[in-house]
Amino acid sequence: MKTIIEPFRIKSVEPIRWTTRAERESLLRQAHYNLFLLPADGILIDLLTDSGTAAMSTRQWAAMMLGDESYAGSTSYEHFRRSVQDVFGFKHVIPTHQGRAAERILFGVMCKPGDVVPNNTHFDTTRANLEFMGAQAVDLPIPQALDPASRYPFKGNMDVAALQRLIAEVGASRIPLVMLTLTNNSGGGQPVSLENVRAVKSVCDKYGIPLYFDACRFAENAYLVKLREPGCGRKSAREIAREIFSLGDGCTMSAKKDGLANIGGFLCTNDDTLALEERNLLILTEGYPTYGGLAGRDLEAVAVGLQEALDEDYLKYRIASVAYLGEHLVAAGVPIVQPPGGHAIYLDARAFLPHIPPAEFPGVALAAELYLEAGIRAVEIGTLMFGERAAMDLVRLAVPRRVYTQSHIDYVIEAVVEVWARRKAIRGLKLLYQAPFLRHFTARLAPL
Ligand code: F0G
Repeated sequence: MKTIIEPFRIKSVEPIRWTTRAERESLLRQAHYNLFLLPADGILIDLLTDSGTAAMSTRQWAAMMLGDESYAGSTSYEHFRRSVQDVFGFKHVIPTHQGRAAERILFGVMCKPGDVVPNNTHFDTTRANLEFMGAQAVDLPIPQALDPASRYPFKGNMDVAALQRLIAEVGASRIPLVMLTLTNNSGGGQPVSLENVRAVKSVCDKYGIPLYFDACRFAENAYLVKLREPGCGRKSAREIAREIFSLGDGCTMSAKKDGLANIGGFLCTNDDTLALEERNLLILTEGYPTYGGLAGRDLEAVAVGLQEALDEDYLKYRIASVAYLGEHLVAAGVPIVQPPGGHAIYLDARAFLPHIPPAEFPGVALAAELYLEAGIRAVEIGTLMFGERAAMDLVRLAVPRRVYTQSHIDYVIEAVVEVWARRKAIRGLKLLYQAPFLRHFTARLAPL
């Protein structure tokens, strides 16, 4: 059979609510044209994020009933630790309430003011946590990553020559770690190749710098390696993931993505001394090291979710359903970041709305139009999120895991194509309020 179907049936349903265009216009005005400020019940299809929005399986719900809520030594922590070590292979597993808590603890222990941390592309919380420590976050994507139309299969790769130049320029002593984000979320959900991980690792080894992964979407990255990297087609996603992690010293993880859970995360390291310091910091703000700010039942959901995320039937459907969205948009002429990545399709707002300069937030304008058109919420990843250093203005249509069916995706395609047809009438926006960091969450804007 050629047809790829959702590899599950639906046992529990959640109604979604239609709104009228007039209602959406009023809600958008009240939200100051920032879709983060919309009430969720005013949204029909929510593609704001794939984070914490997955539908859990019957096995995960069943495991939650086994949650051991003991403050210390919980058996749920043991299930969690075993599952994480089975997939990732690192020595120490430190639970956190989500990815950014792992980042804060890792950087709190490893970085000091004046340090420099390279990454293929830092996610916004990663960058903000580094800057909060007084360290500098440097993005080293390969040149193809900055060309939305390029169909290079591994646009998540780090520019290894640029990494070497950076080390020569600032000195290895100022670089406490190198990070690789799998997949590269801010750069289009694009994968990092196994070959690139090896090349980065050998540079790190030459200078004695530890390599850490931001592993949020490791399963999607592993499956894209299987599909795209020569010589990897016969390996399982699990084997590829293990091979990648065997090249690193640790990771941060948001289990809200490829952990298929609604909350949770962890920090891993092979370094005993660092693990001790990290657990001490954990106790200060997150919780005891066998729960890290999570309920025992959350640990159980993650333990099962990590295994399900590597199921090849699931991954095949997941990657195919995101590609389906991308390919139908491309067929209609809509400019997207090519090729379709792991968890989302990214509209290229600069090419979609060439008459709106970056300073007038073309991505925010496009996201607002999609909401007005069809009640769909997407997110800008561009000038509002990153300021003037934004290399692209993108609108991310993030697909929650196991939540929407193909007809929902067909509806999204129709809506984007409608907005594309009347793109010339769309206007830019001006900024009325911004917070000192992570301004996109609370910014207020108005149409020009
Ligand atoms: N790293 C990456 C690559 C991410 O995409 C995220 C979250 C984090 C770290 C932080 O994890 O949210 O659990 O604290 N990304 C979400 C998104 C929010 O919408 O892409 P967290």
